[in-house]
Amino acid sequence: MRPDDFIPTPVDWARRQAAFALPPGTCYLDGASDGPRLSGVQAAAHAAIEAEAAPWQLPHAALLERVEQTRRLAAGLLFGGDVDGLAMVPSAAYGLATAAHNLPLQRGAAVLVLADQFPSNLLVWQQRCAQVGARVIAARPASGQSLTDAVLARIQDTPRLAVVTLPHCHWHDGRLLDLDRIAPAAHAAGAALVLDLSQSLGVLPVALARWQPDFVISVGYKWLLGPKGLAWLWASPRWRREGVPIEHHWGARDPAQVWTFTSDALPPFMPGARRFDAGGIVDPLRLVMAAGGLAQLRHWGLSRVAGALGELTSALDAALDAHGLSAWKTPGHAPHITGLRVPADRLDAVAAAFAAQQVICIRRGSGLRLAPCLRVSVEQMVRVVEIAASA
Ligand SMILES: Cc1ncc(COP(=O)(O)O)c(C=O)c1O
Repeated sequence: MRPDDFIPTPVDWARRQAAFALPPGTCYLDGASDGPRLSGVQAAAHAAIEAEAAPWQLPHAALLERVEQTRRLAAGLLFGGDVDGLAMVPSAAYGLATAAHNLPLQRGAAVLVLADQFPSNLLVWQQRCAQVGARVIAARPASGQSLTDAVLARIQDTPRLAVVTLPHCHWHDGRLLDLDRIAPAAHAAGAALVLDLSQSLGVLPVALARWQPDFVISVGYKWLLGPKGLAWLWASPRWRREGVPIEHHWGARDPAQVWTFTSDALPPFMPGARRFDAGGIVDPLRLVMAAGGLAQLRHWGLSRVAGALGELTSALDAALDAHGLSAWKTPGHAPHITGLRVPADRLDAVAAAFAAQQVICIRRGSGLRLAPCLRVSVEQMVRVVEIAASA
């Protein structure tokens, strides 16, 4: 068996709209909650469950090779081929807890987050700050101010800034942060940089060399089209050398492959960020789903995916302009996520009209989050605006 035989065959770009297992007649604009399931990944997942009836037919060594193959795929597609920098963990919260556990934080120091940041990248810092007597500072933009300017201002005016921990775009409405400006400012302030890219990895490129982050975290189930329960943690060279995991699973230790652990010696970690590999990730089901999503994205190309999603949200913005609803647009949104800023007195009606027409989206912040997938057409985006305008 070739090592990558387990990965489902990707679908060509021309057939992308048929690649998804979404029910017909739906307009799926909730890719920021759950990535749409690829049919090939769904079939491979069913096969993986079937195969569990005879687990001995998948030898442990072959399973470990699947782990490495999946890690290579993710590293090649998303992290410039830095295979040794990547660990597999069950959730973004787990990866962020690993970062919070390792980064130095003294009494009186500050951790900078975005206002209304996703809780997995907030709660752990609140807890850690409470433990050591540090404080969480939230960057909240003034009216008309960009998220980037709000963050830069807080970096400037916060003494003893120890950690800056941010996304690439806001999970409510896709407003972008300019990490090319924020990262150097964080470093100049002497702060560590942690990035939760759960809402952008797979669409927006990662610039490790320019940003020099300490840790980068992302779920695997939204824009990476993989399963829940398998998230990615990239660690900088320092932390893959010095970092300590929050659990001590045998899979992150070197002798695990021959299974010799003795009470008189603590075995060395596996190389690179594998020291942070969590228990439970050696799971044929999640591995095949993660690898299938990544292989599909590699086949399509990330810039082509971002371009196509950007055409969809641009079509939405243009249709809003055409209907005199420019105020409903979100300025500075990412290509793949935007927010429909429906006035409060019309929000219920618009949400109900969307539900009635099978436009799948969710309320976030004070509006509706629209995060299209590649099954959606430009015509559908225009139709979405017509439905909203007449609700
Ligand atoms: C920005 C962001 N981070 C993380 C997550 C998920 O985190 P976890 O894997 O801890 O549930 C989400 C889910 O919506 C998110 O939007």
